[in-house]
Amino acid sequence: MSAQNKRLWTPQSWRDLKVEQQPSYDDQQQLKDVCRTLGSLPPLVTAWEVDRLSAQLRRVAAGEAFLLQGGDCSESFSDCESGTILRKLKVLIQMSFVLISGARQRVVRIGRIAGQYAKPRSSAVETVDGVELPSFRGDIVNGSEFSCDARAPDPQRMLRAYERSAMTLNYLRALSEGGFADLHHPENWDLEFVRNTPGSRRYQELLERFTETVKVLDAVAPGSSVELSRVDFFTSHEALLLEYEAGLTRGDRVSGWYNLGTHFPWIGDRTRQLSGGHVEYCRGIRNPVGVKVGNSISGAELVELVGRLNPENIPARIVLIHRFGAEQISFRLPPLIAAVRDSGYSVIWVCDPMHGNTRSTSLGIKTRAFDDVVSEIFSAFRIHRESGSRLSGIHLELTGDDVTECTGGPGDLSEQDLERDYRSTVDPRLNYEQSMEIAFLLAERLRDQDGSRSDGVR
Ligand code: PEP
Ligand code: CO
Repeated sequence: MSAQNKRLWTPQSWRDLKVEQQPSYDDQQQLKDVCRTLGSLPPLVTAWEVDRLSAQLRRVAAGEAFLLQGGDCSESFSDCESGTILRKLKVLIQMSFVLISGARQRVVRIGRIAGQYAKPRSSAVETVDGVELPSFRGDIVNGSEFSCDARAPDPQRMLRAYERSAMTLNYLRALSEGGFADLHHPENWDLEFVRNTPGSRRYQELLERFTETVKVLDAVAPGSSVELSRVDFFTSHEALLLEYEAGLTRGDRVSGWYNLGTHFPWIGDRTRQLSGGHVEYCRGIRNPVGVKVGNSISGAELVELVGRLNPENIPARIVLIHRFGAEQISFRLPPLIAAVRDSGYSVIWVCDPMHGNTRSTSLGIKTRAFDDVVSEIFSAFRIHRESGSRLSGIHLELTGDDVTECTGGPGDLSEQDLERDYRSTVDPRLNYEQSMEIAFLLAERLRDQDGSRSDGVR
């Protein structure tokens, strides 16, 4: 066991280490007061829910289910609005429905939602027309507007983020527990603004077959389809702002410590330093933990990182989310798979085909090409198969809205189209139609990966 692992862990032990990507707050007393308040507020999720997610991830690790994680790059406070939340949940449920019906596999759904408010930045400052201000670090830290006032980090924003997360989660729970998520009511499952495209016709056929099956089940075995009236839906966000994460950590030495601000926190590619505060914080919580794995990590470093986070090799505790880009994946991923396999550590491998494929148009607009996203997904399936490993999930930046942020896809969006409805303040997201198309492509690949199964269940 490394010296770092032997150190006594507490929800505050990360403070002794170097912590990247934190804002610098002027008013330290106010920061303390906010953290104390966070510590006294009710948690957003429960340890039982986190344990339920861990149980479902064990099925993913066993090859019995597929992980679908998606949502905004960064939620904004103004997005905490019923239509936006509903459409985000809807696209994820519809995608999962395509995966379940097409690939005949269980799907574990996790939103980048109800807390995805903090962003890592490549530079601490931004300069516009000779004026230098702190970079925008997400609504939990400061405002995106380029003004002195907006860009000053404000601890009170953590409380607003907590409240917005609670409101979002409250609505998500209500929607996923009944009514809206009830598959006995296919009218809730219609596609909206993409009707009459080839993708929507394929979806409609799937939906009709599925509702027929539900009717047959109800007729021959009344009550057996009760499970189909609700869905499990979990939340995730990048555990970046450690003051906030520590404030929502609950537990004790006997039952263990949980981050109860989300079900599934992840460590970003910029904050996964072995001796850094983020790894220290995450090693002590019982939640399953995601780790973004980008181009700069070596096999040896990755193995050490996994060992640091999961020394007891608890199955399904660590989800490695690789994000190399369509061009780099072929030579970056194979040595990492080999190194982790040789180490004996068990991990779940997930592909994030977004963050390695970001580029700028000639007008300086951040975008991603749909074809690059698809190419990285297909390469990931192939490489895992060739390496005797398994791709167990997908991590996407997407929205249920009809935005124009990524080029290509079924609507064949051009760079000129991007200006029409570009809303993201950070990274470009797949829109509704592009997301559904990805679901169909994934379903095909999963069918190929596993052959036809007969136990299709949600
Ligand atoms: C993100 O997921 O929005 C992100 C910043 O990713 P990464 O840490 O992989 O760069
Ligand atoms: Co992003």
